[in-house]
Parts: sequence; C-alpha cells; structure tokens
Amino acid sequence: MTAPIISIQNISKHFGGTRALHEVSFDVMPGELHAICGENGAGKSTLMKILSGVITSYDGELAVDGKTVRFTGTRDAESVGISIIHQELNLVEQLSIAANIFLGREFRSGYLFRNDRAMEDAATELLRSLDCDIPPYKLAGSLRVGDQQLIEIAKALSLNSRILVMDEPTSALTEAEVDRLYRVIAKLRTQGTTILYISHKMDEVFNLSDRITVLRDGQFIGTRNTKETNAAEITKLMVGRDIESLDLGPRNARGQKILEVKNLSLAWPGHARGYRLKDVSLELHRGEVLGIAGLMGAGRTELLECLFGASALAPTGEIILDGQSIAPRHPSEAKKAGLALVTEDRKRLGIFNTMNVGRNITMCSLKDAVRGPMLNQRSERELSESMVSKLRIKTAGLTPPIGSLSGGNQQKCIVGRWLLTHPKVLLLDDPTRGVDVGAKAELYRVIRSLCSEGLGVIVTSSELPELLTLSDRIMVLSEGRKTAEFAIADATQEKIMEAATQSWQSYPSA
Ligand SMILES: Nc1ncnc2c1ncn2[C@@H]1O[C@H](COP(=O)(O)OP(=O)(O)OP(=O)(O)O)[C@@H](O)[C@H]1O
Ligand SMILES: [Mg+2]
Repeated sequence: MTAPIISIQNISKHFGGTRALHEVSFDVMPGELHAICGENGAGKSTLMKILSGVITSYDGELAVDGKTVRFTGTRDAESVGISIIHQELNLVEQLSIAANIFLGREFRSGYLFRNDRAMEDAATELLRSLDCDIPPYKLAGSLRVGDQQLIEIAKALSLNSRILVMDEPTSALTEAEVDRLYRVIAKLRTQGTTILYISHKMDEVFNLSDRITVLRDGQFIGTRNTKETNAAEITKLMVGRDIESLDLGPRNARGQKILEVKNLSLAWPGHARGYRLKDVSLELHRGEVLGIAGLMGAGRTELLECLFGASALAPTGEIILDGQSIAPRHPSEAKKAGLALVTEDRKRLGIFNTMNVGRNITMCSLKDAVRGPMLNQRSERELSESMVSKLRIKTAGLTPPIGSLSGGNQQKCIVGRWLLTHPKVLLLDDPTRGVDVGAKAELYRVIRSLCSEGLGVIVTSSELPELLTLSDRIMVLSEGRKTAEFAIADATQEKIMEAATQSWQSYPSA
C-alpha cells in the first residue's frame, strides 16, 4: 500500500456563524486525480483554500507526505509543492502574463533591476509546453478567461507543483479550451502530478477522475472509486436524497408577441468577417423561453448585449419591445424599457464584491423600497428576503458581503436582483454556470413559473441538455448568423450541433 500524499484530518472551519466545514477527513493518494463534488456551499472551495494556504485559521490537521503541516500562507504551501487555481481567477489584470507568472519571484539582474526579458523567455517556454503561443508581454486583463486560466496553470508549473488544486476549471471555457485543458491534465498526470479537481459536471468528473469525494453541508459524506460508482449515486450522496426527475410540468401557453428583432447586425471592425452579428431576426412571446444555442464566439453574448444596450458599438436593425421600437444605448435605458440581463461574467460584471448580500439583490429595485422620501429598510429587507427564499440562496442572512457566498449562491443573487425589476423580457446568459444540480432544477422551475406570469425569457447555455429542458424554441447561431430555429419538439442535440457548426464561408458573401 502506498502512503497518502495528503491526509486531511478532522478539519473544521467556521466563518462567523457559518459552518463551512465540520470534521472532514479523507486521504489523497499520490498521482491520482481526486474529484471533489458537492452542492453550492458544501465547503469544497473552503477546503481547497485550507489545503493551499489561502485560509490559515482552522481546526484539525493536515499532513503532506505523512508530515503534519501548518501553512501560514500560500508561499508555505507552494514550498511543499501545492498550488491552487481558483474558481474565480486571481491574476493582476494590469500586469503582463510573464509578470503574473513570476509575481513575487521576479528575475533580477543584479540587485536593482528586474529582468523582464528573462521572465518573458521563461514564460514563453512554459506556455509552449501548454500548447499556447500568446506573447508573454500581453496584459493578463486582455486575455479571455480560458487563456487566463492557462496562465495560472503555467504559474503552477513554474513552481514545480506536485499537487495541483483546480476549482471548477472548466466552468468558463469554450469546448476547444476544455479539450486543451484535458490535454494539459493528461500531460501533468504522466509526470505524476496529483490533482484535486472540483467540478459540478458529472460527465467531466467521470471522465477524468480516479476517485470522487463528496461533501455535503461541510461534512465528509464518502469517497468512491470512480469505476465502481455512477452519476446517480454521486448525485444522491451530494443532495442526500434521490433527485426527483426534472419534470418542470406542462409548458406555458404562448401569449402575445412581446419582443421582435429584425435584421440585427453588429459590425466587427478590423476582423475579416466584418461583423459579430449579421441580420439576426427573432420573435419572442409572453410565457415563452427562447433558447439560443451556438458555440463560443457564435454571437450569443453579443446578441443579448445588443438587446440590452450594452454593446460597445451600436447595432443596426430594429428592436420592438411590447409594440414600441427601442434602441437602447445604455443598460439603464434597456432596463427602463423592461429588459433585464443576467451576465455571463459574474465576477467582472455581476457582483459588487464588498457590498452585502441584501443590497446586491435590491440594488436595481431600490425605488420599490422607498416610502415617501425615504428608503424603507424593512421594505428593502423584505425584497431581498423574498428572493433569498424564492431562489433558496444559502447565506447567513443579508448582511455578509456577497463575496463570502459560494459561487453558485452568488449567481442566484444576481438572478434575484433582476427578477425584482419586474422585467417584460429576461435575458439570461449562461445562467447556471457553476450552479449545482439541485439549484439548477430550482432555477429552471423559477424560470418556468415566471413565464407563466407572462414574462418572456431568452436564455443561452453552454450545455445543450439544459437548453432542451428549458426552451420552448431553440434558435442556433453560427459565426454571427442565425442558421436554424427549431420548435422544441423537433430539436435534437445532433440537429443543433449541425447548425451550430455551419461555417459563414458557406454563405453568399456578406
Ligand atoms: N470568506 C467567507 N466568509 C464568510 N463565509 C464564507 C466565506 N467563504 C465561504 N463561506 C461560506 O462557507 C460555506 C462554504 O462555501 P464554499 O465556497 O466552500 O462552497 P463551495 O462548495 O465551493 O460552493 P460552490 O459550488 O458554490 O462554489 C458557504 O456557506 C459560504 O457562504
Ligand atoms: Mg466553490
């Protein structure tokens, strides 16, 4: 029997009154890919932060290679070979790629001078080993999330990490980027790296892992050999009961037309294609969910941003909302007209990190809590509480900063914020990213019930089964154009994928 590389012994952690972890114990074996599963708020990220020296105060013990360790910071963890790639990435956006990789360990020539050139060369080398040829002098903030994540992996490699913690690494990646990540993981594994891998995606967990540990409400529930279990068992361990099949009940009757978009186009100066969106037309009725499918870069996010007045350039074409022609040039105008958008990039565009949970929920509907000339705190509280209970947001009240909530629960807060604005049309850009199975089902039910109250919903998702569950109709975009539209009864994954991969070159020229 080999000895464990990491041994977690009775670890407990409280944040004020919140119990994040309670006497968790399990072992990680050298060279294995050990998946950690659990619902939003189960304590996964907290445990990984303890393991990587981000959180230093906790009860219990941690042993690496059989020796008890007590990290006083991430440097300590790095010195025994443990690195973490966080759920919300942590790069300094204003610094170059090379500077990020070697942050705090800058190469020097002599005492005074930083040797940028040597760092860039080393960075290039590291990136090349990850199939990535982005120039190392580029600013981290200018990169797509997938590339930013690769920079974090390069950083871990530069530290010669033997143990790599990945917290939901694929939640923001395109399919091509996921493939690249899998290749990198395979390579790391041949080098013997031990990987702890948090994910909500069952297929991924089953493809990659050797063993799976489940946490629930901060407690260790069990570890299984991946080969000897299945998704149903793991899900059941996660939620503590059998998941009822996802029956959302009958679909809503289609109401009046609420939104019509005619020939929406968005230019893309300097790009060979010339446009991000080209002649996209659609209709949405009250009570209806329109799903938008497409690969990354197909224009899904751009379409929603145009409707919401949030695109950098003004689109051309016509948008008719509830009989009125509108041309929002700012989200506030779109909001006034009756649109709401839940964005894809929660960290950058969604939450106000240091503001409390309650205000993050009410911030777009504060006028509803005004009584006479004053903001009525009780009314405001009632508004946020209504969403906390409606969406089952797991939080210790309304006063903690939203940044202290688990990722999935932050997402629910943003959805709640926009529901409170009573929109006519709700735009959801990949709304269940990082949301656990139970909460997903909950969100689907909420969407269905809002539709029955007459709301129209447009939703994008990177997961086709989700679109097929939620939508009444599915429209497919490929390279900025609409390539197909299906009634839900006719839609299949195959047909959607076929339409999503049609190339623009097969079109008559723009
Ligand atoms: N810094 C903090 N301050 C206060 N509470 C916190 C803090 N970090 C985490 N918590 C709480 O601890 C619990 C566990 O959170 P954690 O982030 O570990 O969950 P998770 O399993 O990673 O969830 P998710 O799948 O949503 O990312 C949650 O109830 C969360 O609100
Ligand atoms: Mg987490």
